[in-house]
Amino acid sequence: MSTVRYAVFGHPVSHSLSPRIHAAFARQTGVSLAYTAIDAAPHAFVAALDRFVGEGGKGANVTLPLKEAAFAICTRTSDRARRAGAVNTLSWNDGQWHGDNTDGIGLVRDLTGRNGLDLRGRRALMLGAGGAARGVAPALLDAGVSELIVVNRTPERADALIDAMGEPDRALSRYWQDLGDIGDFGLIVNATSAARGGEDFDLPFTLTTPRTLAVDLNYGEAAIPFLAWAKAAGCRDAVDGLGMLVEQAAEAFEAWHGTRPDSDTVYAALRGKDALLVTAD
Ligand code: ATR
Repeated sequence: MSTVRYAVFGHPVSHSLSPRIHAAFARQTGVSLAYTAIDAAPHAFVAALDRFVGEGGKGANVTLPLKEAAFAICTRTSDRARRAGAVNTLSWNDGQWHGDNTDGIGLVRDLTGRNGLDLRGRRALMLGAGGAARGVAPALLDAGVSELIVVNRTPERADALIDAMGEPDRALSRYWQDLGDIGDFGLIVNATSAARGGEDFDLPFTLTTPRTLAVDLNYGEAAIPFLAWAKAAGCRDAVDGLGMLVEQAAEAFEAWHGTRPDSDTVYAALRGKDALLVTAD
């Protein structure tokens, strides 16, 4: 019997933790699979997926910058993928790609479950409006934030994200240059890739209160600048994206293999072994 293959597609992707996470889940649950990382530039993504299917590919995770492209190639998509306009989990069924987005539920599970934080009633600020932001914005609204303000360097992308949410009373966009005048927040999410490109940005401390939860969707070195800012601003809680990464993988694993892995063990192993993980997924 040929091996059933799974993979994560991204560009770059070589430092992705997804192969390690899925291999650990497979060991735990006794599932037999091959899971690799496949580098595909956006223009080569569709051809790489076709090749993958020809070699026995049954499912794939998709990371930056391919999540919106993955949405476009799906014949069927889940409701949460449609709201996000981005796909991070592909399943090959009946000769077609089915797309889901597990980023949002992964983030909410990490914050509310693992970290025991309550998101309800928090006024939320999202920095960034790319694929990562699109994945988590619907889940934050579903988790009961009182308001979601999206601010992006390129304002048109923030407007498009807000339009896709379809909740004009609760989800709004604002200009980056107005960050000093939009009040304070109980939740601030960094969904930008600024630190991954070695860039930095200054944020006003007026955005925070002593009860603010600051979350970076990045992890490892890419999460350091924003979380350092959050600590300097006096935020009570500062969480990086490692837990979300493990939780979104657990959701995908369950969808593909019908069994729920123990994500806490894998999270603890990754957190303990690699105090400083060097890439984002
Ligand atoms: P991802 O899948 O990680 O979201 P992406 O879709 O390329 O990747 O989105 C990257 C996000 O980081 C965008 O919101 C981007 O802003 P633009 O839409 O204006 O490009 C944001 N970003 C990247 N570098 C940034 C910087 N130096 N300052 C502020 N925002 C930045």
